[in-house]
Amino acid sequence: MTSETSGETTAQRKDDHIRLAMEQHAPQAARDYDHVRFVHHALAGGARDTVDVASPAFGWPVPLYVTGMTGGTAKAAEINRGLGIVARETGLPVACGSMGIVLRQPEVADSFTVLRRENPQGFVMANTNANVTGADAARIVEIMGADALQVHVNAAQETAMPEGDRDFTRWEGNIAAIVDALEVPVIVKEVGAGLSRGTVAALRDAGVAGVDLAGRGGTDFSAIESARRTDSGRHYLAGWGQSSVASLLEAAGLEGVGAIGPVAGGGEAGRVALLASGGVRHPLDVVRALALGADAVGVAGQFLHVLTTAGVDALVALVEEWLVEIADLMALLGARDVAGLRQTDVLVTGPLREYAELRGID
Ligand code: FNR
Repeated sequence: MTSETSGETTAQRKDDHIRLAMEQHAPQAARDYDHVRFVHHALAGGARDTVDVASPAFGWPVPLYVTGMTGGTAKAAEINRGLGIVARETGLPVACGSMGIVLRQPEVADSFTVLRRENPQGFVMANTNANVTGADAARIVEIMGADALQVHVNAAQETAMPEGDRDFTRWEGNIAAIVDALEVPVIVKEVGAGLSRGTVAALRDAGVAGVDLAGRGGTDFSAIESARRTDSGRHYLAGWGQSSVASLLEAAGLEGVGAIGPVAGGGEAGRVALLASGGVRHPLDVVRALALGADAVGVAGQFLHVLTTAGVDALVALVEEWLVEIADLMALLGARDVAGLRQTDVLVTGPLREYAELRGID
């Protein structure tokens, strides 16, 4: 991600990330999502055929997307080719990993842009760190032919990296400059440590079109960076931050954030799209996040695991099955659309409730 050192080091790190994220992968582990429960109303169900799963954000036809992962190596190119095909076949919006390397080594651009070549009509997001200038961000969007730009903010990951950034003071100003320089929407995301209420409000005020909470509970980059070291590393940073559901509680009710009103994702013209990713295991987690206010839900590690172990066709089948199950769950809950899910009775229990109480969230 950030800390773009020499090309070889960056490429090695990207392959390390893929390998270590897959070693870390544990989809059934208990997560904060398990503390989000729906009150069951036995007569309130709807009909699956009348359910509309469209996301209120960016005109997306589905409330699910593949969030940013990789690029820059031969292995990453193969992964992006697979993700591009999956996106084309299922209609999912899709993102690549950090493209900063492309500015220094244009010869690796293909390993990212394969995502667009395989998916010419779909919604494709480029990805960069928050150290780039507006002009560099515009260049990255142009190279990808992207519909939006993800900008990642990953201070905990950087701190876990010996070669990582140690000065994060320019990010907020850089993000505002990137927003000004681009014609496409800018979505600011974490990489697995979540966003707080104050951060989401600051990003809204900087004019972003979307925030991706990317919370704790799934891929853990602080742990991955420690695992890349020969010494014990900063292993104590594993688990830093808050989960996506805790971040959703943080963002709840913030003016101008989320899509209860007009279409989200319009930056100054509309509401800031509220996207949730991090630790999503199955369609019920997706529906839980949507009920807590997310406009769409992103998956990284879990889809990468299926792609690398079972192949493209298996991931296409899985995504199609998830979309059916999301509609099934919406019918079970009597929600005709994503807005309807927000009218359901949701209970927040256990440590998540304690978190909300400590943070003064109702
Ligand atoms: C990532 N992620 C990521 N994010 C980003 O903004 N730029 C990047 O380059 C990467 N690189 C990357 C590589 C790999 C192998 C993985 C698995 C993930 C983070 C990703 O977008 C997401 O925020 C987290 O992985 C949390 O989601 P999951 O994995 O728990 O679904």
